[in-house]
Amino acid sequence: MAATGSEKQGATAYYVSTPIYYVNDAPHLGHAYTTVAGDVLTRWHRQRGEKVWYLTGTDEHGQKIMRTAEANDVTPQAWCDKLVEEAWKPLWEHLNIANDDFIRTTEKRHTDRVQDFVQDLYDKGEIYKGGYEGPYCVGCEEYKLPGDLIDGEGEFAGQKLCPIHKKPVELLKEENYFFKLSEYGPKLLEFYAANPDFIQPESARNEVVNFVEQGLQDLSISRSTFDWGVPVPWDPKHVIYVWVDALLNYATAVGYGANQEKFDGTFPANVHLIGKDILRFHSVIWPAMLMAQGLPLPGKVVANGWLMVGGEKMSKSNLTGIKPQDLTSHFGVDAYRWYFLRAISYGSDGSFSWEDFSARYTSELANDYGNLASRVAAMVGKYFGGSLPEATAAGDAERAVQEGLAKAVATADAKIGEELDFQGGILAIFDFVKQVNGYITEQEPWKVAKDTTPEGQARLATILYTAAESLRGVAVLLNAVMPETSQKLWESLGAEESLGALADQKVQDAGAWGTLPAGATVTKGAVLFPRLEEKPA
Ligand code: ME8
Ligand code: MG
Repeated sequence: MAATGSEKQGATAYYVSTPIYYVNDAPHLGHAYTTVAGDVLTRWHRQRGEKVWYLTGTDEHGQKIMRTAEANDVTPQAWCDKLVEEAWKPLWEHLNIANDDFIRTTEKRHTDRVQDFVQDLYDKGEIYKGGYEGPYCVGCEEYKLPGDLIDGEGEFAGQKLCPIHKKPVELLKEENYFFKLSEYGPKLLEFYAANPDFIQPESARNEVVNFVEQGLQDLSISRSTFDWGVPVPWDPKHVIYVWVDALLNYATAVGYGANQEKFDGTFPANVHLIGKDILRFHSVIWPAMLMAQGLPLPGKVVANGWLMVGGEKMSKSNLTGIKPQDLTSHFGVDAYRWYFLRAISYGSDGSFSWEDFSARYTSELANDYGNLASRVAAMVGKYFGGSLPEATAAGDAERAVQEGLAKAVATADAKIGEELDFQGGILAIFDFVKQVNGYITEQEPWKVAKDTTPEGQARLATILYTAAESLRGVAVLLNAVMPETSQKLWESLGAEESLGALADQKVQDAGAWGTLPAGATVTKGAVLFPRLEEKPA
């Protein structure tokens, strides 16, 4: 079996992808959720000093996009251009997403290589011509199995609905080209068994294994009743099925068939981040397509759960009204990036509410973390003129803090960097923040400050050094999640001047005690998490 993304060696990049999103409408909280998760994961790996490739982009072909463009009286290309430039790219910039590339499926670098890939499969005898009739969901861009459908109620009484979009399916009958997917069932099951971490979480893995065990049908990979897609090279009356086109972005964007060196150094992805709606495409069809070409398979397919608002899955077709920008203008971009990963266990569904976000913002970000940073800087200013003193009288209490930081580093590195347990990793860092707060409460530096003996001053110096050095570690650990506030804290500790750029601090070394040098210039910077204004009406 070919090497998988989890076994990639040497100079190859840690390659993470998001889904490429449909541009039938503007991005919402759900898309931002997956994209922020990928950004945190890749920033974490970059801060380990690894070579990283973070890919996102847009899925622009197919009937869904075509119909939306028609309804808006513009060409599909004009519609996509507008949405990509005015909605999608600006949101990722706004949210500080540090993607290395942005692929659009209408780009020639993609469409040419999609044709090559499909032609190659045709030449290998993996594709044949046949007929198909079945229920199709345009929302999913997928033929559904009758057993997947649910019965409509109310306005849809008597009709069969897509379980995801809760809209009636359409009966389609076409002459199409088919990929021999059914032949790959046994090989896929063998692969899942040999790579138990391939599909995450466990519930997603079980669902896929059950699905494949029931036997796969061949996959219709072309459409001939509309033309918004990549033409089938040997029969241009057909366009390539939008999902085959879309999945190939993970190969075309990193040089498939065009730049062998880049491709070898990047492909396959270590992690495909997706939502559970598109699990089968990524864990069944995509690996089978790769197997058919003899290409290596990805390391992991990790599905996030649904972000719910008011009890409903947040979706474009069921607009629940809250835009990411509504939240960032109230809470700030960093708090936004933090909140969803902190509040929801990755892989599970989770609800959003203003009340929960506000409560956590105030208690965890503003009180626990922000106040700690400002109190420590204020005391170094007041008692030592803003010059970080040396720790010469460390005892058990200090050693406990040092151990606490080392533990936070190890836990966060395993949870965020390897397990994609973002919540667990963030909690480990904030447990340490609580520990440092407790340390200060117990040590009462404001009382020790009144003791003007050399011993008293040495204790005071030790307490404040311990607190500032702890914050140095916290700034490094939180940089992937909240880069703007980490940078502010970094500068307020005088670390930029004494240690260099925050991005260059290796996360795995963040627990090396004594890194921040005595004499660093500590200043009271801007408040990290300002008090919230009234909730907008
Ligand atoms: O499926 N909660 O694009 P799409 C959590 N073009 N995540 C959510 C979400 C929610 N409520 N809503 C959306 C497509 N997402 C295809 C992908 S990839 C080769 C092609 C996220 O615009 C989640 O990652 O419908 C989900 O899988 C994705 O957006 C679907 O985006
Ligand atoms: Mg969708």
